[in-house]
Amino acid sequence: MRVWTDYSLQWETGSADLMNQSDCELMVVFVDAKGEHHATGMVHPKLEEALRNLNDRGTFRGQAGEVAVVPTLGLQREQYILFVGWEKANPAVTNMRATAGSIGGKFHEMNIQSAIIIVPKLSANAQLASAFTEGLILSFYRRFSYASYERAFTILAKLTFIVPTEEAISNWNTGVEHGLSISNGVCYARELTNVPSNRLTPVRLAHEAERLSEQYGFKCTIYDEKLAKQHQMGGLLAVGQGSANYPRMIVLSYQGAPSSDEILGIVGKGVTFDTGGISLKKAAGMEEMISDMGGAAAVFGTMKAVGELQPQLNIVMVVPAAENMPSGSAYKPGDVITTYSGQTVEVLNTDAEGRIVLADGLTTALKHGATKLIDVATLTGAVMHALGDVTTGAFTNEDAFLQKLIHASEQAGEYVWQLPLYPEYDRLIKSDVADVKNHGGTWAGAIAGALFIRHFAEQKPWIHLDIGGTAWMWESRGFEGKGGTGVMVRTLMTFIENESQSTA
Ligand code: BES
Ligand code: MN
Ligand code: ZN
Repeated sequence: MRVWTDYSLQWETGSADLMNQSDCELMVVFVDAKGEHHATGMVHPKLEEALRNLNDRGTFRGQAGEVAVVPTLGLQREQYILFVGWEKANPAVTNMRATAGSIGGKFHEMNIQSAIIIVPKLSANAQLASAFTEGLILSFYRRFSYASYERAFTILAKLTFIVPTEEAISNWNTGVEHGLSISNGVCYARELTNVPSNRLTPVRLAHEAERLSEQYGFKCTIYDEKLAKQHQMGGLLAVGQGSANYPRMIVLSYQGAPSSDEILGIVGKGVTFDTGGISLKKAAGMEEMISDMGGAAAVFGTMKAVGELQPQLNIVMVVPAAENMPSGSAYKPGDVITTYSGQTVEVLNTDAEGRIVLADGLTTALKHGATKLIDVATLTGAVMHALGDVTTGAFTNEDAFLQKLIHASEQAGEYVWQLPLYPEYDRLIKSDVADVKNHGGTWAGAIAGALFIRHFAEQKPWIHLDIGGTAWMWESRGFEGKGGTGVMVRTLMTFIENESQSTA
């Protein structure tokens, strides 16, 4: 299987004297909303005139993310200047990510191989360097094509950053390194999401975990169908029993704080394809269901970044991986199954399979010592009715825990919005014949799903992130291409780094 190979950006950072040695094709210059640029003394007066001209005509107003490319016609060493709108407005990191995304889009379009970036004076810090790198790398990612012909595809080979002072150099480099680790994690998650289900089965996903464990020294435990049966993982097995591709319970452990008893459990829904099972989905658009392991992709991408950045925190990642198929051996509406926790579930709709595999995923995380839980899942279409493809829905049994995660999401530039779990909703999962039922009816579908999962968190602090609307894009948007988005890698990793700092 082809997987994302790290984007190994070549770059150097220096102060003004490095400029004269550069032989880049293009120079990037930041411009504020007044039309003033941030590269004093580095732009030829004639080209400054061109900038004023564009501004007067209203073609380029220096609005955030706006770009204008001007050929230098021999007036400067570089063939082009790229003017980009930049206001250090709040939040500056989000703005910088988006700005770098538009720059990257232009690089791609113009097939730029080398560029020199003049970093604005007040922006030469590690946070903004990381955000810049994230936006740039994320804008480069394209879904792999399996076409038999070679695609002409070249991407940026070399970047030179010019920062205002000598002291800023090492901070900027640290930030770029950090941004590369984060964005490679996101691109890895996108790639896992984009691989079709005939190429990414539960068994293949387990191989990926083994590969990560070898690369980063994680402890890896895989429950194959026999081990899962021995452990009575009835939820995972029920969902997987209709498919010729057997299920796997995948566990990766990372010990970044050996002296602490706290272990963060991150659990990702790994349904490699969701046909709906016997409660079959309609045909139109069903191909999107290759992304029903988007939650798994998010936690895999996070673990990759964890391996790179080595935060001081204990983490156990769990992915219940299964394929939801209709067949002679498939589970059926009306079935009552016993999950790994011992709790029973009345199956009313085989298409509400995510919550069933997650039930066993949460139990697995708890048995591996998790003291707090975050699950990420393409759980419902209903969350898309509420929040569209813009915002991830969040649920919790402990508000203070979720507040920290929402704070991290704001730093990371991903939208997360809390939905309620008022006690009046409890009847949505009440069953006459089992502890819970897996389908609550027409309304409040995202909430019913969350309540079901909460049942298996066993009173431990728990957050559920429903990425049913945000894991997959039908059209590109900003630095997000069509297909898998890798959503929640940035948020989870930022949360983990914040926690790491607060315990250090
Ligand atoms: N994987 C789907 C949810 C989904 C649908 C995510 C479309 C992204 C796009 C999930 O397994 C599912 O089928 N959910 C059902 C639940 C219902 C039967 C209670 C849904 O949301 O319709
Ligand atoms: Mn489903
Ligand atoms: Zn599903």
